[in-house]
Amino acid sequence: MSLRNIIVVPDPLLKQIAQPIETITEDVKKQALDMVETMYDAPGIGLAANQIGCLNRIFVMDTNYRKEESSRKPIIMINPEIVWKSEEISVMEEGCLSIPQQYAEVERPKSVRVKYIDIDGEVREHIGEDLESHCIQHELDHLNGILFIDYLSRLKRNMILRKVEKMKKDGIIL
Ligand code: NI
Repeated sequence: MSLRNIIVVPDPLLKQIAQPIETITEDVKKQALDMVETMYDAPGIGLAANQIGCLNRIFVMDTNYRKEESSRKPIIMINPEIVWKSEEISVMEEGCLSIPQQYAEVERPKSVRVKYIDIDGEVREHIGEDLESHCIQHELDHLNGILFIDYLSRLKRNMILRKVEKMKKDGIIL
């Protein structure tokens, strides 16, 4: 496995729609495992393919990333699809590895059921609540070219984009 470079706003790949995966090839498996390693290394609780510059529909997630390496249970979702959302809403502060060090509250359904294909090609379903629900929706948004800052006012979004630009200029981030 190897670490992949995480792209940062305003990279246009973050605004593009990722395409469904038709066959789980060795390359797809390697990409997924690299994404898991890259997510833990960052560290983050989720990572979508667009963020490493791949426009295919994979994301990885582990909302308990702080636990011991030996007990990690990353979930790899290929071609994920939300099949149910709760009416109940949850508001949580979100961040994104592609928008470093910036956080804002985002409103989303409190629970979701997601259908996906795992790395062995099995169709699976997973119910995410609270933080996991936010994470699933945030990562799925990435695959559709949507970022959490797109839910904010234009004023707030531009403020965040300017801060990231300044951090790049100052050499704080790459
Ligand atoms: Ni993100």
